[in-house]
Amino acid sequence: MDSKKIPKSAVTRISLCLREINRLEKEGKDKVSSTELGDLAGLTDVQVRKDFSYFGQFGRSGAGYDVVQLKKIIERLLGKDKAWEIVLVGAGNIGSALLRYPGFKNQGFIIKEVFDADTKKIDKRYGDVTVKDVKGLEDAVKSSKNIKIAIIAVPAESAQVVAEQLVRADIKCILNFAPVLLKVNGGVMVKNIDLSNELESFSFFLSSNGNED
Ligand code: NAI
Repeated sequence: MDSKKIPKSAVTRISLCLREINRLEKEGKDKVSSTELGDLAGLTDVQVRKDFSYFGQFGRSGAGYDVVQLKKIIERLLGKDKAWEIVLVGAGNIGSALLRYPGFKNQGFIIKEVFDADTKKIDKRYGDVTVKDVKGLEDAVKSSKNIKIAIIAVPAESAQVVAEQLVRADIKCILNFAPVLLKVNGGVMVKNIDLSNELESFSFFLSSNGNED
């Protein structure tokens, strides 16, 4: 399988399917058809089968896919059959909310290191992790070897500097909450989370509907 040939949208849809497959497994369901899975994930059955086909054979039988087997295959494809360690930079409103959320751990994402620049936040504990001084970020992440994912939850004006520190520490994936476009080299994948941007689609939708009336 050449992962570069798989559209990013297919990976997003497969993730959605995995969420539903997890739910089905919890409900004790053994089999699921592409139509059922599509209905649950908001996709067509054709789309489900097409997305699965990028990844090769999923061992489909006439009665549908075996839920447990499908879950294992998709988890392996998405790299979710192992735990991923994460460094979080910024232990403010968003950072501390992420630290308190137990769901990431259940999904195999472990916030292993947390850094902040504010002396009032340094040494604060959240479960197993203690907030450290951002001055030590590069050394700590480099020496950890396993941390390749970072979350940036610092103010916009600090985000680029933090991104550069993370890239120097060999981070390969950045989830960025700061409302700023980060400039990083091509080998680093950046995903921006911008709730205002998402809300703007609602305000646009509601205002344009209003105009039509
Ligand atoms: P906050 O001010 O509560 O927390 C930011 C934290 O970053 C503080 O603890 C501060 O000490 C720390 N910090 C500042 N400079 C730093 C540096 N160079 N290195 C390490 N730590 C540093 O901010 P909040 O509310 O948690 O927001 C965080 C970011 O997320 C902001 O950029 C904000 O604009 C953005 N945001 C994004 C949203 C979204 O939908 N993506 C929604 C709300 C906020």
